[in-house]
Amino acid sequence: MTSEAAVENSSEGKPELGQDRVLIFDTTLRDGEQAPGFSMSRAQKLRMASALADLGVDILEAGFPHASDDDFSSVRAIATSVRGPRICGLARCQQGDIESVARAIEPATKGRIHIFLATSPLHREFKLQMSRQQVIDTAVAGVERALGYCGDVEFSAEDAIRTEPDFLAEVFSAVIAAGATTVNVPDTVGYTTPIEIAERFAWLRANVRGAESVVFSAHCHDDLGMAVANSLAAISAGARQVECTINGIGERAGNAALEEIVMALRVRSDRFAGLTTGIRAKRLHATARLLAQITGQPIARNKAIIGENAFAHESGIHQHGMLKHRGTYEIMHAEDVGFARSQLVLGKHSGRHALRERLSMLGHELDEAALDEVFVQFKTLADRKREVFDADIEALAVGRDPEA
Ligand code: KIV
Ligand code: ZN
Repeated sequence: MTSEAAVENSSEGKPELGQDRVLIFDTTLRDGEQAPGFSMSRAQKLRMASALADLGVDILEAGFPHASDDDFSSVRAIATSVRGPRICGLARCQQGDIESVARAIEPATKGRIHIFLATSPLHREFKLQMSRQQVIDTAVAGVERALGYCGDVEFSAEDAIRTEPDFLAEVFSAVIAAGATTVNVPDTVGYTTPIEIAERFAWLRANVRGAESVVFSAHCHDDLGMAVANSLAAISAGARQVECTINGIGERAGNAALEEIVMALRVRSDRFAGLTTGIRAKRLHATARLLAQITGQPIARNKAIIGENAFAHESGIHQHGMLKHRGTYEIMHAEDVGFARSQLVLGKHSGRHALRERLSMLGHELDEAALDEVFVQFKTLADRKREVFDADIEALAVGRDPEA
């Protein structure tokens, strides 16, 4: 161990083990940035990292320092100036990789070395050409090396879901005995289902030696569109860390979306025994927009939690319900996740109630006959335009009022 590169190599380096808290491990700047179209410059990563710290993520995976000089200097810059989250870097179980992470995270007040090695039969045979025993030995040696630099070491069994459960339990038991503080179960290719992953976590927690002394973590990809559901199922079965990204960016179809996991835990806390996260939900919208701005990749309008339509209502029936009671068509408030307000969007599906409300907001109190007249004109206009803006409504109101 070099003293210069030793990061919190003490009991303080151990992760928080609270049973009522789910740790949010953000990998936007590592797994997310790895996806085509999402690469970021060092300055952009720094801006994003500081937004993630403000958001309240517990662990911030800042990059893969051995992958390139640029990745190294980005991780180092984040470790130097971002405070709050534990700063983490990814490494294979190799000395060079581990040393690069140790040097990159050295300025951090709280650091983590995250090492990984594939464990599934496919990866063992075709990628690593390693026997089961060689995988165990390499994983243990990796953990021991990493512990020489940092007291907080996470071990990920790449392609864990397609690994024989008894072998996975052996690997985890061995790395825990070697001192790993978090064991991560990646669904690397997005293959699992909620029921399967819940069963896997329950089985592992019962069969891994030393399971009670470490944090179990889930890392789900979205190839079958189940990354968030799988992460939540893992939490139900005892995972107390989830690895996720803002807007769900990541390899192929992406990683589990942070904002969806956080709000599902919050809105359905009745189904998750009151488990909480440290995320400041009101910052979710701004953080998601910042990422979209930085990467130039827009957020789908219908994206859950942070899409433009997430709190927008156009149909007349829904708008009528919303005007009577927001709970009719909203399970959380727009303000909870940082939007200014829900929106009643005026379009061809909208009804008189919403039009009256908007006219009144714009300062036009019309009697029933006048409202009827404007409503007919509004419907004609809405058929021509995809969206009707306040200026259009204003024009309709003013156009019919000879006194205006
Ligand atoms: O998907 C995966 O297996 C990973 C590991 C490196 C954690 O990203
Ligand atoms: Zn991944």
